[in-house]
Amino acid sequence: MQKKTIFSGMQATGNLHIGNWLGAARNWAKLSADYNCLYCVVDLHALTVRQDPAQLRNNARSVLAWYIALGINPDENILYFQSHVAEHAELAWILNCYTYMGELNRMTQFKDKSAKNEENINAGLFTYPVLMAADILLFQTHLVPVGDDQRQHVELARDVAQRFNHVYGDIFVIPEGYIPPVGARIMALQDPTRKMSKSDENISNSIFLSDTSDAIIKKFKRAVTDSDGQVRYAPEEKAGVSNLLSIYSCVTGRTPQDCEKDFAGQGYGALKTTVGEALVEAITPYRNEHARLMADTAYLDGIIASGAAQAKVLATSTMARVKKAVGLPK
Ligand code: TRP
Repeated sequence: MQKKTIFSGMQATGNLHIGNWLGAARNWAKLSADYNCLYCVVDLHALTVRQDPAQLRNNARSVLAWYIALGINPDENILYFQSHVAEHAELAWILNCYTYMGELNRMTQFKDKSAKNEENINAGLFTYPVLMAADILLFQTHLVPVGDDQRQHVELARDVAQRFNHVYGDIFVIPEGYIPPVGARIMALQDPTRKMSKSDENISNSIFLSDTSDAIIKKFKRAVTDSDGQVRYAPEEKAGVSNLLSIYSCVTGRTPQDCEKDFAGQGYGALKTTVGEALVEAITPYRNEHARLMADTAYLDGIIASGAAQAKVLATSTMARVKKAVGLPK
């Protein structure tokens, strides 16, 4: 049987944090054995928020290098920049004409982002989910590994694909969200009821993959816990402590309940130190590999060009069918 297709992407903004690794990239790396995988750096999406050009260029490259450093093998996966395959934007335009204002108005991420960004509520922010639908549908994607916060966008991609197919026949595969069997939701260290986020202004909330070992240890020391003093895994009642245990569990490959036992009779100080040190040990080799890749310009350029070329072939084939279906002249 032909392998199914997986598509996912990360924004080209800011630094990746351990949530992007433990909750996403680490799972993505394992999927290439069973699926055809495309992992995109979504640099066009990044433009919905004002970016410094030099920084955006560098961040985009850095994210792609992280994909590789974290174990997503470029010989087995297609890794590329969204802006290198113009069909993303082209399909997004067409899909804009099949998406209702009302649907986009309901997107909770749009509401959140426009509340945070009142001085620049641009049309791109509003149609962001349509570009995301184009990303997915362009490759006849079956499964889209995403976190909870992106589920609504994947639902929209499904709805638009179904609407389009209803009018024109079977043009798009209807995608599904994919929650990997071992997923991790890493929470903000200073506010463990919220997810760790790249765009968080408070850098104490996130452990970035590029943080120095010292900075990592310090951030863990300052992590918010609670006042009952017991190291126990109970995400509802004890969000901070449970987040530390789940990070430890991800790094060691043991269950959080099992990790809890290591700290019997010990306080939060011991927990924070142990988790911080374990994490430093786990990410140091990745950080070194990332630095090596960033320095090897020729190698990275080669991967970037080859990824774009491979994606382009697939994208062109879908676009030809879409254009024909809607009646654009040949
Ligand atoms: N919106 C996603 C996020 O912020 C990133 C993204 C863009 C994406 N296009 C995608 C994810 C297509 C999956 C599939 O996380």
